[in-house]
Amino acid sequence: MDLLISFTPYLIDWLDLIVRWIHIIVGIAWIGTSFYFNWLDSRLDREIDKDGIEGELWSVHSGGFYNINKLKGPPKEFPKELHWFKWEAYTTWISGFTLLVIVYYFNAESLMIDKNVNDISPMNSILISLIFLFGSWFLYDFLCKSKLINNTAIFTILCFIISIILAFSLTKIFGSRAAYIHVGASLGTIMAANVFRVIIPSQKNMVNAALNNKVPDLSQGISAKTRSIHNNYMTLPVLFIMISSHYPFTYGHKYNWIVLAAISIIGALVRHYFNLRNKKQYKPWILPVAAFGMIIMIFYTSLPKIISDKNTLNQSNEKISFIEVQNIIKYRCGVCHSKNPTFEGFEEPPLGLILETSDDILKNINKIKTQSIDSDIMPPGNITGITETERNIILNWIKQGKEINN
Ligand code: HEC
Repeated sequence: MDLLISFTPYLIDWLDLIVRWIHIIVGIAWIGTSFYFNWLDSRLDREIDKDGIEGELWSVHSGGFYNINKLKGPPKEFPKELHWFKWEAYTTWISGFTLLVIVYYFNAESLMIDKNVNDISPMNSILISLIFLFGSWFLYDFLCKSKLINNTAIFTILCFIISIILAFSLTKIFGSRAAYIHVGASLGTIMAANVFRVIIPSQKNMVNAALNNKVPDLSQGISAKTRSIHNNYMTLPVLFIMISSHYPFTYGHKYNWIVLAAISIIGALVRHYFNLRNKKQYKPWILPVAAFGMIIMIFYTSLPKIISDKNTLNQSNEKISFIEVQNIIKYRCGVCHSKNPTFEGFEEPPLGLILETSDDILKNINKIKTQSIDSDIMPPGNITGITETERNIILNWIKQGKEINN
């Protein structure tokens, strides 16, 4: 029993790795097939004059020639095997949700809750997480079934405003990283549920109708198409959110929900350009507009930091000793970032980052600055209670030349 208990943290780390690995692989398969079929549909040669064929495409790949035909209606004779492409979506959601449990629910105290944002219990944070995940699907599905869906512009703007409200509220409930991941997880849930609840049932309806020589329910086909377009636009923001944890200047920004909204618009714009191009509508101005948006984001996130760095001068001109800096780091960071962490649940220093010796600190000073001074991502949820004065002491020591022999 004792062995099992000491084994658990290692087991959880391995589970994290394995499930993340699976999540990426099946996610690539899902988005890959979705991108491929979109592309295929747009590149079909529709001028072709073949009986019962809507369009044709020739391609060469991995040692063979492929000739794909899109039929005008159902096949006269059903093949022995018809491929559906649904497990890519389901397994992506299942592995994603499992990852959310392993990484966030198991570490709710340090990764979901930020006591400076909201002092909630781990159980409540998990409950809120589930409400957001499934609630956003029900809200979205409700909007899709309302009359609003007939007006694309209003529907898009409304959904976008709701997503921003969702992102904003999440940043007021959870720590910043958990807030971001929950926007991604909610959108991902909507995407997978679109496949499960609308797209696949519509395909089933189409197949059943064909098998029974009946006309399929057209309205189902139309909503399946709409949902698949929505999924297509959601891919880019969702993928951004999934990699955003590597970029603290996004989720760690004071107005992280604005950063998220802006990057999502830019991502959707780029997707829109390609979708239009697939329809042979060329709007090249979209790309420079997106690039310009990115440049504004770079300035928006960096300039205030550069200015505030310049303004935080050491008033007393007193030289800060390295011992002082090392002590702050020892007490505020060392419980986790040391060879043998003492913080419960950490068997190894997170991401292998050790901040003990002067060498460790100097080597990682840029990372320390981005995570603990330019933003307040570390310590997570300020669990060790670092003060603003202490953050300023580290900043001033950096500005005074990072000397360690004083
Ligand atoms: C409660 C434990 C804990 C405390 C205390 C803590 N950290 Fe962390 N730190 C983590 C975890 C967990 C991660 C990994 C986050 C991830 O997976 O991205 C991390 C990651 C980091 C990283 C990113 C490393 C990389 O390679 O990207 C830096 C830098 C960092 N911490 C600095 C600090 C500093 C500086 C302090 C003190 C002011 C501190 N941490 C306090 C748990 C802690």
